[in-house]
Amino acid sequence: MAPRKLAAGNWKMNGDLAALAEIDALVAAHPAPGCEVLVCPPAVLLHPMKARAGTVIALGGQDCHANPSGAHTGDIAAAQLKDVGAAYVILGHSERRADHGETDAAVAAKAAAAHAAGLTAIICVGETEAQRDAGETLAVIAAQLDGSIPARATAANTVIAYEPVWAIGTGRTPTNDQIAEVHGLMRDCLADKVGDAAAVRLLYGGSVKPGNAAEIFAIPHVDGALVGGASLKAADFGAIIAALETA
Ligand code: 13P
Repeated sequence: MAPRKLAAGNWKMNGDLAALAEIDALVAAHPAPGCEVLVCPPAVLLHPMKARAGTVIALGGQDCHANPSGAHTGDIAAAQLKDVGAAYVILGHSERRADHGETDAAVAAKAAAAHAAGLTAIICVGETEAQRDAGETLAVIAAQLDGSIPARATAANTVIAYEPVWAIGTGRTPTNDQIAEVHGLMRDCLADKVGDAAAVRLLYGGSVKPGNAAEIFAIPHVDGALVGGASLKAADFGAIIAALETA
């Protein structure tokens, strides 16, 4: 069976209680979406958002700790995300790799913790502009996948997001051929790491908008998107969902 397509929104450090009105609008406009819809808000909004999202929209965290509990001030355990309604957690986003020095090994440890808590891990990879210019993109992605995916990853508990660092929040996107090349490589790399590699959902992220979503969703091995800025407004995210439903 083809993997169920996934439209995922990453609110990053944006949004407040008033912004939950966007979730109400999204649910009203897409009460029975033809793809899976996921929103990953700041952790403080997970619990109130769950009441609005019901079963129409899945929820996710944006990070978790590798340990199940303990003296880690400011951190959040995977089980705590699950407890307030999350089914997913984004891990290894380039902003966390850059801001918090997260290594591939740290991401793999967090993903293992997410799996142990029953969450699906969305593991992010992506090259910088300097790495692309140097012709290192495929090697960088392969190495990040190799180091960031834990043992016992499956298509059910793991999603991979390809987010070129230079495409995030810039309005720039790779060419269709460049996305196809990386997604094809990721599918091949997964075959070495995951039993049911063909069923692992591969998301593209980086300046996905209503205007380019349909084109991106037509690229082979693109099973959905991880959307930043355009996920904050119900109208924009709804248009991206509609493009994925018909892809
Ligand atoms: P933008 O869609 O704002 O470029 O962000 C992409 C992203 O980083 C999603 O995780």
